[in-house]
Amino acid sequence: MSVNEAAWILEAKGDLRVQPTPYPVPEQNEIVIKNHAFAIQPLDANIRAKAYMDMPYPFILGNGVAGVVDEIGPSVTKFKKGDRVVSDTPTYQLKKTKYGCWQKYVVGTEATTAKIPENTKFEDAAAIPFALLTAVAALHLELGMGKPKENRHGKALIWGASGSVGGYAVQYASSVGYDVVATASPRKFDYVRGLGASEVLDYKDDQIVKKLQELGPYDFVMTASGDAVGVNAISDILQPAGGKFVCTRPKSEEMRLAANVSLHYGFFSMATQKVENADFTAWWYGDYLPTALAGGVTPTPLEKRPGGLSEIQAACEDVLAGRSPKKLVLSP
Ligand SMILES: NC(=O)c1ccc[n+]([C@@H]2O[C@H](COP(=O)([O-])OP(=O)(O)OC[C@H]3O[C@@H](n4cnc5c(N)ncnc54)[C@H](OP(=O)(O)O)[C@@H]3O)[C@@H](O)[C@H]2O)c1
Repeated sequence: MSVNEAAWILEAKGDLRVQPTPYPVPEQNEIVIKNHAFAIQPLDANIRAKAYMDMPYPFILGNGVAGVVDEIGPSVTKFKKGDRVVSDTPTYQLKKTKYGCWQKYVVGTEATTAKIPENTKFEDAAAIPFALLTAVAALHLELGMGKPKENRHGKALIWGASGSVGGYAVQYASSVGYDVVATASPRKFDYVRGLGASEVLDYKDDQIVKKLQELGPYDFVMTASGDAVGVNAISDILQPAGGKFVCTRPKSEEMRLAANVSLHYGFFSMATQKVENADFTAWWYGDYLPTALAGGVTPTPLEKRPGGLSEIQAACEDVLAGRSPKKLVLSP
């Protein structure tokens, strides 16, 4: 049997420790994946350093993995040993260590796994899904934007469009047929236009609310950066009619929303773990994600970090400190 090893967090906010770990056992509709690549998300880094979610310590964090199927559990029909797959694991919902992706062999569920297209690298497959799912679940599942090629018409506003989630939100809205107006830092204007935005404005412009109102009204509004300044500006932009928008962060004290404006927040990155989203989940892993991974989206630039499991903590610290503008990807 293959030898497993994991980066364990032994207590809340504790340092990671790499140590031997039993090879995990797949249950009904589960597969064991030999981990080839995983990305560090701000969520993982926040749970590691700030205990952002309650976890049963000692624990193994990480909820997305790209690799090769090593073993299949009972009733699995979609996958066989040797398949190249990408999987979103229920680490933060079911809170079992076998789903944690900071280990060499990870258990994934059949329903939240997709095959990786032949020409797609493990690193890309690991880096894309989390932020892409956040954007699509926020716009389509939460706001009802529609699906690509439906040739919808109208306008979408994406605030903070140059980041990972924002970049995918621009691409998704544009693929559904919407004219996309976006905000970003001036040095990222060309990048965001290249993703499909027709107009990109500087979110620090002191006339931003007026300028975005003149370009509106908008059928769909999202802030991908989720910061309070952006949220407050969106509340003003939506006046006088009011409306709703999706936000990647929860409401905070610094946010002041007009009475006719509502902020929609959720764990969009985990949308496919909820049974009530079964139809969306089947479309996501069976259709949309494989197409996206095969070149259907422009990926967020990524940086491969050497060093394996023992480098995860430093990578998490870099993510939290904003030291890399790229998505950090490691291999155990
Ligand atoms: N709710 C969920 O399910 C979920 C899932 C994933 C991520 N998130 C959250 O979503 C946020 C974005 O994640 P990400 O992975 O896309 O991060 P990212 O790739 O680091 O992008 C963040 C972007 O925000 C922009 N930004 C930074 N400060 C800003 C400000 N004050 N005003 C406007 N824009 C600002 C930056 O754009 P410029 O360089 O152009 O300034 C940067 O590109 C994070 O807070 C993350 O925790 C939530």
